[in-house]
Amino acid sequence: MKHQFVICTDRCRLRQVQPDDLSQVLSWRNDDRIKKWFVNRSTISPQQQIIWYNNYLNNDNDMIFIIEEKSNTGSPIGLISLYNINPESNTAEFGRFMIGDFNYRGKGLGFECANAVCAFGFGELGLREIHLDVFEDNTSAVGVYKKIGFTITGKRLIDNKALLTMVLEYKSEIAES
Ligand SMILES: CC(C)(COP(=O)(O)OP(=O)(O)OC[C@H]1O[C@@H](n2cnc3c(N)ncnc32)[C@H](O)[C@@H]1OP(=O)(O)O)[C@@H](O)C(=O)NCCC(=O)NCCS
Repeated sequence: MKHQFVICTDRCRLRQVQPDDLSQVLSWRNDDRIKKWFVNRSTISPQQQIIWYNNYLNNDNDMIFIIEEKSNTGSPIGLISLYNINPESNTAEFGRFMIGDFNYRGKGLGFECANAVCAFGFGELGLREIHLDVFEDNTSAVGVYKKIGFTITGKRLIDNKALLTMVLEYKSEIAES
């Protein structure tokens, strides 16, 4: 979707993905060390990516953010999104999540951004439930999701690999009477 939202965390700024970001996003997405963690592990061509991006802009239920690290140059370090946003059931999927610049891995930035995007989904979009799929052996990602509060609700095999379904429910800070 065309959106103007900006999410600020302590160390990052999350903003709409722009045409200028596409070549960087493509090289992250096609990196073997990253694409191996996605259900669709095929290599994406620049032409396929342009079609994907145009579809994205016309899809009101899909919100992608580029992650910029605020210190240093503020340059893009990753991608994160909420998609299949359903305003009737107030649910969405969390995904397309990567810290593509390996210099910024393992510093807590993935957790910081994923947590902020979920809070944004609950606070700004009125979501009540966020779902995701993650391979069971993706320990970094599973660790980040558990730290946020996601719980495992399902497990199935894809190409002989265990894929977990995890869910995060909105919790009101005010106890309901
Ligand atoms: C999943 C991913 C986004 C996590 O990003 P990240 O920024 O490295 O994640 P974090 O730094 O928040 O957490 C990762 C590790 O750093 C540790 N960490 C957290 N805060 C830290 C800090 N302040 N200092 C040092 N380490 C820290 C965490 O404990 C975690 O350790 P673990 O792997 O032993 O559990 C990243 O690994 C990635 O891009 N993977 C490839 C794509 C992918 O798998 N996407 C998810 C598909 S479902």
